[in-house]
Amino acid sequence: MAEQAIELANLAEQISGCPKCALAKTRTNAVPGSGNPNADIVFIGEGPGFHEDQQGLPFVGAAGKFLDELLASINLRREDVYICNVIKCRAPDNRDPLPNEIDACTPWLTQQLDVLKPRMIVTLGRFSMSRYFPGATIGRIHGQAKRIDDVLVVPMYHPAAALHQASLRQTIMEDFQKLPDLLERAAAEEEQPREPQPTQLQLL
Ligand code: URA
Repeated sequence: MAEQAIELANLAEQISGCPKCALAKTRTNAVPGSGNPNADIVFIGEGPGFHEDQQGLPFVGAAGKFLDELLASINLRREDVYICNVIKCRAPDNRDPLPNEIDACTPWLTQQLDVLKPRMIVTLGRFSMSRYFPGATIGRIHGQAKRIDDVLVVPMYHPAAALHQASLRQTIMEDFQKLPDLLERAAAEEEQPREPQPTQLQLL
């Protein structure tokens, strides 16, 4: 196994036994994440739902089915990307994660990203958005890429939101169409010396 795969597997094992918040008592399985350890793109959702908790895998329910469609629309499969969540254990009744649960879980996500070192991070929904854009409103910034340190971060609506609100379906589909070009630009920028970087990429 390549080095990243081993490090991610080690992290997954630790996450699976994590006792750091009360969700450890109610989970069936922790959901560390899945996908390609060498992925250019990492998608970060909110947290596991019922099916994810049962299977120990991210985005395997209805929102995951839509995420698969969105990936396919830009010629990507799950195996090409890495998918994980802000919190790794299901919150009872799928309630919003509590601040103390996010705080307890954040070091896991940070360590995963340190191993993955993606070119691009796509945040799905407001909880992963606020890790990179504190105080921002998803309706204002969705689809707008911002370079943060060494990675291009693109905030998107959560696919589940599009399942509940038909008008968002088109919006998230359009935002996904921007990803291939943005990834190409991110790759090109990596080849340039890191001279003054625009903090906000203007989308065409
Ligand atoms: N919603 C999420 O945010 N993550 C999952 O893994 C599934 C649904």
